[in-house]
Amino acid sequence: MPKILNYGSLNIDYVYAVDHFVMPGETLAAKSRNIFAGGKGLNQSVALARAGGEVYHAGAVGAEDSKVLLQEISSNGIHDDFLAKRDMPSGHTIIQVDKNGQNCILLYGGANQSLTVEEINNTLSHFSAGDYLILQNEVNNIEHIIREGAKRGLKVCFNVSPFTLQLLDLPLDLCAFLIVNEIEGSAMVNMSADSDPYAIMQALSDKYPQTSFVLTLGSRGSILKEAGQEMISCRSYKVQAVDTTAAGDTFLGFLIASLARGLEGSRALNTATAASALAVQRAGACPSIPQLNEVEDFLAHSNVTVLTDKL
Ligand code: RIB
Repeated sequence: MPKILNYGSLNIDYVYAVDHFVMPGETLAAKSRNIFAGGKGLNQSVALARAGGEVYHAGAVGAEDSKVLLQEISSNGIHDDFLAKRDMPSGHTIIQVDKNGQNCILLYGGANQSLTVEEINNTLSHFSAGDYLILQNEVNNIEHIIREGAKRGLKVCFNVSPFTLQLLDLPLDLCAFLIVNEIEGSAMVNMSADSDPYAIMQALSDKYPQTSFVLTLGSRGSILKEAGQEMISCRSYKVQAVDTTAAGDTFLGFLIASLARGLEGSRALNTATAASALAVQRAGACPSIPQLNEVEDFLAHSNVTVLTDKL
């Protein structure tokens, strides 16, 4: 099985339950506060590992405050050989979760933004053609990681989140896989976010023909287009969301690990959809990510057909 290197963020998430998101000028009392291990990078590594992947997490944390993050790495069997410790704060967030399970996030990059070119080159030299390289937009030097990873024949899978227009200046054509939501995907091809998702997908695929895409559409479902193949669609399972934090990370981790394990696209997509349905029913980022046996159990007991021609 190919190795999976995830060059990604690790954040301490300070999560506040609120009635509604705080407004300008308002002081709002939170109903509770919890501290969770999170960060798009770490969440995705945990999901990749729980989905059966052999995962190496590369990045940086603060030497003083990173216990909760390192604990998550070790308890999930994730390799930490390329994880640096810095004399600065770890990345962290302030997350408000409202009564509908929706969130809004304030992000401080901290150690995630301290990656050096030398470290990146050294890390990549331990991986070879056919291995996977996972990336999100919460670390620095992304362009260098993409270029060097692709040069070595790694399958670069880039989750363009959090999205900024500067991402369009990156060599996205070197990515084997781009994972986007409808707002990100539509912005990448200069369309409006309420355009037909299949038209967005087609425009993405026309712009980057060598690249595979997943377009996630929240509670509606997702569309997968592997390069050179037809689109396939998957409806979301209908569940009661408690907290949507890390649902997208869970989806990505289960999708890519399933593909790395040799599952065909439709099965990988269904597995990822089921995993994220379980994740939204639990609070927090890393703690909400299910184990593979839970996902398989869910799939075995679900008689709902989610794979479909059109959403
Ligand atoms: O995708 C969810 C993650 O985004 C949170 O865990 C938070 O740390 C932010 O990076």
